[in-house]
Amino acid sequence: MTSDNAHDLQGLQAAGKVVGYTIAEMKRSVVPGMTTAELDKIGEELLERFGARSAPRVTYDFPGSTCISINDEVAHGIPGPKVIQPGDLINIDVSAELNGYYADAGVSFQLPPYNEKLIHLCRSTEETMMSVINHLRAGMKVNEIGRVMEREAGKRGYKVIRNLCSHGIGKALHEKPFEILPFYNPRVQTVLKEGQVITVEPFLSTGADFAEQQSDGWTLSVGDGSRVAQFEHTIIVTKGKPIILTSA
Ligand code: CO
Ligand code: CO
Repeated sequence: MTSDNAHDLQGLQAAGKVVGYTIAEMKRSVVPGMTTAELDKIGEELLERFGARSAPRVTYDFPGSTCISINDEVAHGIPGPKVIQPGDLINIDVSAELNGYYADAGVSFQLPPYNEKLIHLCRSTEETMMSVINHLRAGMKVNEIGRVMEREAGKRGYKVIRNLCSHGIGKALHEKPFEILPFYNPRVQTVLKEGQVITVEPFLSTGADFAEQQSDGWTLSVGDGSRVAQFEHTIIVTKGKPIILTSA
């Protein structure tokens, strides 16, 4: 969607705040020995308390309130009986609807004992997301996102997962442009409009180029032992620096 009035801005900011807060609280609550279903429950109760609804559940009938992906899982991990272990690489992705507005965000982090390589991967992914966000201005081509994303990932020694995309959002979880590629596609001619609401979500990889869907129909994983981290914010494009909606 394009936000061009105070009502839209307030609605998006309110949804974004719920998402940012829920992720921060879930991250703070993770302890080894907990199942991913228990962690999801914490997110579910927070969303409920704010009067928000899980966007993947209401949109796609996702079997959970939040997506929790561990180690070789990259995205759309289904909360369940899996027990979180010390040293796990964890991704929490929360998207929610509040009063008709949608926001979507994600974080990756490792539980102690820390591994320097994973810490660097997570930090680099967040830096890549922020570089892309800070670069964007109304009037730029949409393919700038992929150009900068792949360049920033490469500078830090990583690849991007090529089949996982950023997307438009606002009045629905996924809106036009549905697939904002994480690499440069010179054929894209569309331009970022002032007020346009999109996600910026790089998936940085230590080796794999693609994530593959598992037999559960949801989970996207890499099978080659490489590790992948994702960070995501929902933003509004402006003539200046974008407005980040999903900060904690
Ligand atoms: Co997300
Ligand atoms: Co998203």
